[in-house]
Amino acid sequence: MKLWSYFVIVTGIIFLFGLIFNLMNRTDVKTFSLSYIRVNKEQIRQILATQKANPPECVELSKLLTLTPKRFKDDDFIDLFKKTQKCTWYRNSEANQKFRARLTNCCNAIQNFTVTQVNTALGANLTYDAQPKKQITITEDIFNLLPQTEPFKLPLSKLCAVVGNGGILTNSSCGEEIDQADFVFRCNLAPIVGRGDDVGLKTDLVTANPSIMSIKYQSLNFRRKPFWESTKVYGKAFILLPAFSYLSNTGIVFKVSYTLEDFGSKLQPIYLNPSYIVNITQFWKSVGVSETRLSSGLIVLSAALELCDEVWLYGFWPFSKNMEGMKIFNHYYDNVPPKQSAHVMPREFYRLLQLHTKGILKLRAGKCKNKPTDI
Ligand SMILES: *[C@@H]1O[C@H](CO)[C@@H](O)[C@H](O)[C@H]1NC(C)=O
Ligand SMILES: *[C@@H]1O[C@H](CO)[C@@H](O)[C@H](O)[C@H]1NC(C)=O
Ligand SMILES: *[C@@H]1O[C@H](CO)[C@@H](O)[C@H](O)[C@H]1NC(C)=O
Ligand SMILES: *[C@@H]1O[C@H](CO)[C@@H](O)[C@H](O)[C@H]1NC(C)=O
Repeated sequence: MKLWSYFVIVTGIIFLFGLIFNLMNRTDVKTFSLSYIRVNKEQIRQILATQKANPPECVELSKLLTLTPKRFKDDDFIDLFKKTQKCTWYRNSEANQKFRARLTNCCNAIQNFTVTQVNTALGANLTYDAQPKKQITITEDIFNLLPQTEPFKLPLSKLCAVVGNGGILTNSSCGEEIDQADFVFRCNLAPIVGRGDDVGLKTDLVTANPSIMSIKYQSLNFRRKPFWESTKVYGKAFILLPAFSYLSNTGIVFKVSYTLEDFGSKLQPIYLNPSYIVNITQFWKSVGVSETRLSSGLIVLSAALELCDEVWLYGFWPFSKNMEGMKIFNHYYDNVPPKQSAHVMPREFYRLLQLHTKGILKLRAGKCKNKPTDI
């Protein structure tokens, strides 16, 4: 055979494979077609309940969002999100109650979100959630650091704001709206000074990861005052510390607690319960969010969904551009690339968007002001 005929055959094969591959991957969001969706009666009832007075496009969109796409393309998601923003959001109290009941059943943040003297006995052994082979015995010193009971009084609040650190918050003007919430969760000692317009100032709970203590405060091995001063802005908020995730966390977390105590800080240290983390990770897996390590944002969101009547989310946005296609930073305060596991991923985001259209939480992104239809 001539060389050119080999060429034709090989090109043909490559083309065919390309075609087959393409056909196999057709189920991305854009190629979703409503005629293929079989939504069951219960789902339709729920969708209609949530969408109330919304136009038919919104009902159709909600049906579409009951499906799970195989491929996750950023542009398609941004597009979907933009469409949901044209629909009025209604809270669905029935769906809320059901979701809350599931959370209480599996994980019970009300009693077990943090380690307390009530749910953990002196001399008990806790298993680290990220290192299941390692345990720590609750000695008297540790026991005395623990709050007596779960610090949250129920009902915690009517409206809770959970504020992630995404660059989408830059220039968002969401501060005023966030500050109006009854309880505000923030992540990883997020800077708020001078950024009140975009992220607000009210803080009722802030998480602190040990990595930031080593990066910014030399693991508190030298001067501790700069750390204490940086935390004053959070007033008497709870500071949520993952003391029992990794063995290496424990020492530094206790240094944080002692530093705050020594300087007379009003912040109230609380310690994430490793068993809660294990259980809530399992829960999210069961609803399609399979992260080996949940982000602190998703962890506080889980507690909020159980403890609050209504939850509004800010700064959860896994894309490198905003809705107008403009490039944005990783965080609203810097552009340090995140460690993969520390952030909300497109798949998680999609689940959150589904919960949004079901009326279980309200996902905010983009500008808070100048959008009268959506406030
Ligand atoms: C809370 O955690 C403790 C210790 O792990 C467990 O015995 C108890 O059953 C949990 N309570 C609830 C309500 O889940
Ligand atoms: C905790 O572990 C220690 C050492 O492994 C053991 O001696 C102790 O009995 C354990 N405590 C409980 C309550 O199981
Ligand atoms: C935010 O606003 C400032 C001032 O108007 C502008 O320079 C900057 O590019 C904006 N950034 C984003 C991400 O919108
Ligand atoms: C997590 O789930 C296990 C098994 O259902 C249960 O025994 C444990 O008490 C739960 N942990 C917490 C903190 O509630």
